[in-house]
Amino acid sequence: MQTVVVDHPIVRTRLSVMRDETSSNAEFRAALRELSTLLVYEATRELPVTELPVTTPVGPTLGTTLANPPLLVPVLRAGLGMAEAAFNLLPESQMGFVGLARNEESHLPEAYMSSLPDTLAGRPVLVLDPMLATGGSLVHCCGLLASRGAADITVICALVAPEGLATVERSGLASRLFTASIDEGLNANAYIVPGLGDAGDRQFGPR
Ligand code: PRP
Ligand code: URA
Repeated sequence: MQTVVVDHPIVRTRLSVMRDETSSNAEFRAALRELSTLLVYEATRELPVTELPVTTPVGPTLGTTLANPPLLVPVLRAGLGMAEAAFNLLPESQMGFVGLARNEESHLPEAYMSSLPDTLAGRPVLVLDPMLATGGSLVHCCGLLASRGAADITVICALVAPEGLATVERSGLASRLFTASIDEGLNANAYIVPGLGDAGDRQFGPR
């Protein structure tokens, strides 16, 4: 799996707002939206394009269009905060949904919904989830996508723990992962340290 840490001053400032425990829900959501725009921009750098003729007011030239726009898959709840940014950059894409909630005792993901096309063969997929902690949720999501034929999965996370990164790498399910930070590790509650807390609660309030 190719892992890219997007190192940019604006990425670092938005992540700092998200980490700051005094940021309001609205400030957190805005920072995640802006960070997602930058991460999706980087993650889509190599998307194949098709040339097409374009006529400007001055004359003909060649333009480009995306050859095979990816399916966008936010992982609910927290990934919802990345969906609008990704859709704005990729308006020709479609969107699927996977709903997972981590059990706070076992730290294992519990699936409560999915809404995906039946077949994903030949379709690149962009998975959106701000947090990769133990890796259980992401491996579950990528497994679901792979079972429908997805073979080209790009993951976008605001931040990741090394433990989760290793788990996703071992699964062999994702082709590449883009993030703003690889943090220190996990605490006893499987929260990322220093992390930013619970990304779902910080956007939407506690469950
Ligand atoms: C968070 C996050 C990931 C998951 C990461 O979701 O958005 O999906 O935890 O943890 P893992 O790598 O250990 O599986 P959560 O289960 O808290 O649900 P939420 O998005 O509804 O808050
Ligand atoms: N989920 C979160 O939202 N935050 C963490 O640190 C770990 C899992």
